[in-house]
Amino acid sequence: MAISETPATGQSTSERGSGRTLRELSDLITPMTIRVAVTLRIPQKISGGGQTAEALAAATNSDPDVLERILFHLVGVGVLTRDDDGRFGLTHVGAQLLEDDGAVNPDFLDLDTVAGRAELSFIRLPDVARSGDIVAYSAQYGTGFWDDLGKEPSSAAHFDQVMADGMQKRVQEIAESYDWGALGSVVDVGGGNGTLLAGLLRAHPGLRGTVVDRDAGPATRTFREAGLTGRAEALSGSFLEPLPPGAGGYVVSRIQSDWNDADVRTILGHCADAAGAAGKVIVVDEFAAEEGVRTDSETDLRMLMYYGGKERTMEQVRALAADVGLSVRSLRRAADWTIMELSSARGG
Ligand SMILES: C[S@@+](CC[C@H](N)C(=O)[O-])C[C@H]1O[C@@H](n2cnc3c(N)ncnc32)[C@H](O)[C@@H]1O
Repeated sequence: MAISETPATGQSTSERGSGRTLRELSDLITPMTIRVAVTLRIPQKISGGGQTAEALAAATNSDPDVLERILFHLVGVGVLTRDDDGRFGLTHVGAQLLEDDGAVNPDFLDLDTVAGRAELSFIRLPDVARSGDIVAYSAQYGTGFWDDLGKEPSSAAHFDQVMADGMQKRVQEIAESYDWGALGSVVDVGGGNGTLLAGLLRAHPGLRGTVVDRDAGPATRTFREAGLTGRAEALSGSFLEPLPPGAGGYVVSRIQSDWNDADVRTILGHCADAAGAAGKVIVVDEFAAEEGVRTDSETDLRMLMYYGGKERTMEQVRALAADVGLSVRSLRRAADWTIMELSSARGG
């Protein structure tokens, strides 16, 4: 969005009223009390009927006085109700904490999960702002996001499922929007649980493929369940290391925004090396808008805090690819995503 003045008010058109006061916008107390309630499973414990703070404290192994003070705050901001007998219940807003209905994802609020801890790494934003290159998650917890996720199988499976759900909505269109069959074989670099590769193989019966991801287990299961084991395999490995060479295409789907510029060059460079002069590197992603205003600043800042990454425009990805000798050969739209075909600048 261009920043211009609106003559009638003199207000920049880039000003976006949220309808909330500065006090509400800058509050940390409500977000933290909601997170504590979710972490202690208070919404689940009161969804079937109100409970007193004392009973909830006993059920959650918490201090009754502190818990009651937290719950009182949540009554004040409209998340909980409290009846005359001191029993706390859920308002219609609080009921949204029971499940992911699209309005809010409770996973991001539960401080006992990797996603919840990742959100809490925003405490390090001042350090990140000053240094520019600290990764908040690693600084806060002493280990990287992906390593932590690998230690928590249920969180890792949930992460894969969220990724797979987003992919499933678009995989048909991605499969139809590009001539994947002409590649003969593809390596899906960081291909998660194999949802994209399985979709490509179903649509292109002559195609073979390999997922390379930190843990080959989830993609192996997907291929087995889809009856694709004859044409698909999964390897545990890192795209920060050299990739298996010789495939016709190296797919990089929703990877670049998780990494800083230097790492993106490394990943694309490994793809380019493995693809050689004849192979293609195919970036599949939803790129940031070019206009200079971040349309999805929340995701952009999450990428920054969790991984030191960023939401990039197509032009920014094209420039990083050019740094490792890759040129854009074609661009195609698939649903709301883009398929960017790259190949060696020296190749055809
Ligand atoms: C945002 S998800 C994208 C998954 C999939 N490509 C998609 O579009 O649905 C990022 C993926 O990168 C994988 N990953 C993270 N670090 C990796 C590494 N060093 N080597 C290989 N895969 C990695 C994660 O396990 C995860 O599956």
